[in-house]
Amino acid sequence: MNIKILYDNTAKTGFLSGWGFSALVDNSTLFDMGENAESLLANMCAFGVAPEQIKRVVLSHEDWDHVGGMSLLSQFGDVQVYVPSSFSKSIKSEIRSFNPDADIVQIKNALEVEPNLVVTEELGIVREESSLAVRSSQGVVLIVGCSHPGLDKIMSRVVSEYGPIRAVVGGFHGFRKLKALVDVPIIVPTHCTKKAKDIVKLYPEQARLVSAGTELELEE
Ligand SMILES: [Fe+2]
Ligand SMILES: [Fe+2]
Repeated sequence: MNIKILYDNTAKTGFLSGWGFSALVDNSTLFDMGENAESLLANMCAFGVAPEQIKRVVLSHEDWDHVGGMSLLSQFGDVQVYVPSSFSKSIKSEIRSFNPDADIVQIKNALEVEPNLVVTEELGIVREESSLAVRSSQGVVLIVGCSHPGLDKIMSRVVSEYGPIRAVVGGFHGFRKLKALVDVPIIVPTHCTKKAKDIVKLYPEQARLVSAGTELELEE
C-alpha cells in the first residue's frame, strides 16, 4: 500500500507547502484536497501522478483547508466524491459545478467503497468528519483530516468495527490523550497536529514527521 502526502503545511524540496492536508492512496483514492488547487496539482505532478488517475475523492470535512482545492475536480473525469452527509448544499453544488459527472455519495454510516477500503461514519456534532480506513492483514491504516471529533473517538470506533490500527496518518489537531497511541506501530502526525513533536518524543520508534512530498510504503 502506497500513501503519498500531496498537501501539507510543510513540503520537501520540489513540492509546495500550504495550510491544509491531502493524501493519495495507491494513486487512485484522494483523501482531502488541501487549501488550493494549484498547489495540489503541482504536487501531484511532482509525484508523476496525472489527475485522470484519480478514481474517487473522500472529503473528510468542510473546512477550507481540506476542500479548498476542489476546483481540481474538473480534471478528474468520472469520479465518486464521498462527503459527510452534513455537508452544506452550497458545497455540494460547488462540487457539481466543478465536475457535473461526479457521483456525490453522502456518508452517514461507514461505507466500504471497495473491498477493504472504508469511508468511516460521520462523527461529531458541529464539525462532522469522516476518515478513511484501509484494511489489511496487518491491521487498519487510518487516514484522518483534522480529527475534530477527537482522534481517540475516531480510533476506538474503527478498532471496534475493524480491529487493531496499524498506522494513523493525518491531522490530529489538539489531541492530547497521547497514551491512546501506545499500541499503534506507525504514527504519522501532520498538518494541524499541535503535539506532533511531543508524539515523536514519546514514541520515537513508532512516530515520524512528514511533509508534502513524503511517500509511505506499507507492506500489504
Ligand atoms: Fe479542520
Ligand atoms: Fe485542517
